[in-house]
Amino acid sequence: MSLRVFIPRDAGAVAVGADEVAIAFEATAAKRGIALEIVRTGSRGLYWLEPMVEVATAKGRVAFGPMTTADVAAVADAMIADGPHLLRRGVAEDIPWLKRQTRLTFARCGVIDPSSVDDYRAHGGYKGFERALTLGADGILADVTTSGLRGRGGAGFPTGIKWKTVAQTSAERKYIVCNADEGDSGTFADRMIMEGDPFVVIEGMTIAGVAVGATKGYIYIRSEYPHAVVAMNEAIKAARKAGYLGSRIGDSAHDFDLEVRVGAGAYVCGEETSLLESLEGRRGIVRAKPPLPAHKGLFGKPTVINNVLSFAAIPFILAGGAKAYAEFGMGRSRGTMPIQLAGNISRGGLFETAFGITLGELIDDVGGGTLSGRPVRAVQVGGPLGAYFPRALFDTPFDYEAFASRDGLIGHGGIVVFDDTVDMAKQARFAMEFCAVESCGKCTPCRIGSTRGVETIDKIRSGERVAENIAVVEDLCNTMKFGSLCALGGFTPYPVMSALKHFREDFGPAPTRLQGAE
Ligand SMILES: Cc1cc2nc3c(=O)[nH]c(=O)nc-3n(C[C@H](O)[C@H](O)[C@H](O)COP(=O)(O)O)c2cc1C
Ligand code: SF4
Repeated sequence: MSLRVFIPRDAGAVAVGADEVAIAFEATAAKRGIALEIVRTGSRGLYWLEPMVEVATAKGRVAFGPMTTADVAAVADAMIADGPHLLRRGVAEDIPWLKRQTRLTFARCGVIDPSSVDDYRAHGGYKGFERALTLGADGILADVTTSGLRGRGGAGFPTGIKWKTVAQTSAERKYIVCNADEGDSGTFADRMIMEGDPFVVIEGMTIAGVAVGATKGYIYIRSEYPHAVVAMNEAIKAARKAGYLGSRIGDSAHDFDLEVRVGAGAYVCGEETSLLESLEGRRGIVRAKPPLPAHKGLFGKPTVINNVLSFAAIPFILAGGAKAYAEFGMGRSRGTMPIQLAGNISRGGLFETAFGITLGELIDDVGGGTLSGRPVRAVQVGGPLGAYFPRALFDTPFDYEAFASRDGLIGHGGIVVFDDTVDMAKQARFAMEFCAVESCGKCTPCRIGSTRGVETIDKIRSGERVAENIAVVEDLCNTMKFGSLCALGGFTPYPVMSALKHFREDFGPAPTRLQGAE
């Protein structure tokens, strides 16, 4: 008797006991005299079922979860007998939550062994790169443009235009930089893919290198992601050994190599120019634009800087999928978005789907409402600079323009859910406080305005001249919105103003605020 078992090594799964479950499987197999092969994969992204363990069967991979070490012996018996168990979820791909997704970027995440180039290739990996070599720079740029891909880091800038700008800027050296700082609240997609399918990021960056004529790339990963750092370094080594990185990659005339750099932990270091300062060894301070990084970026050279998910979308597009990618979505938001459901939500995790799904479908239907069982009161979409939406706006489709038209943003696709015990004045204060703590200090509206914002909201919360102080906060928000150098100061007004607009009843002395709040 033998078992082939798949156990995630994703940090989210490890945090809830995946390593211990793997050890318990080994002990059980030894006791039962079973030949056991454990493959450590990434996560499928059904976080409420983690650690979710799968076993290879003739029907496909059958999933069990959420596992504890105490369940292992009985689950192993159920695996051997192909019998029932309370934690048995059926064939993983048939789990409705997974089945209703459109996994283009995350197709392999949770499926393959993230340390194996062969496994990556066996699941379609490097097909995009091979085709990119035959297409050449112009063909690659045409495909990326056709796909309609927009940057997944937050600003939604068209990737094809960015790459074309770098390709058309002549210089003896150019760089590709991957932004893996992932600082937004409720987001984890970059981490998940780096841990679960690191080669897709490497392949995407390599294709970018060929497209613009860059020979060197850096992946800037936040220090809070030690598992992702290990996974990326391991994959870079394996890709180099297989001839996909280094000189004459894939037997072509192109050279391209990668290095991982670890950030020291500042939200503003996710802002692209600040990230470049940090990569160059300086304090992360925002640079004034122009010049754009595409003209004068890392070490003063033309640089493509993209989010992890933007690069990870490229292999599918270049493997002949440009038109297919563009057919998903709505309006100017083409393709799929890996949406991250977090906060007070029943079924949190990674849900990749075409743009156009409504916020209500995502929260109530996909996410199953709150974990606390209380009514949803607010959701913050797009990280700490995103607006708070009440239930009245749940008909908003997930689309860059639809969110912008309602003074919101989709950012990096993170959604944080709050139930009816949330105090929205406290959340508004938090937005200002976050900005004050994380501000790089270069411009006054952000550096000073955020601190004045905290003080003024404190006055409102203690009932001091509420109407006048609300007017002061609104005035401050206007100054920050229009006078800040970057989106940290410029977008902090969005959570603050949305809280004031949709949850005005929370702004006043504590007794008038909703019951259940602090
Ligand atoms: C304060 C601030 C923080 C940011 N943090 C991130 C981040 O963690 N990851 C990211 O990809 N982009 C982040 N961005 C956006 C980047 O500046 C930039 O737009 C992005 O890396 C470009 O890649 P894309 O076109 O693929 O989205 C941030 C922007 C600001 C203003
Ligand atoms: S808005 Fe804030 S973070 Fe951005 S440049 Fe100004 S001080 Fe720095």
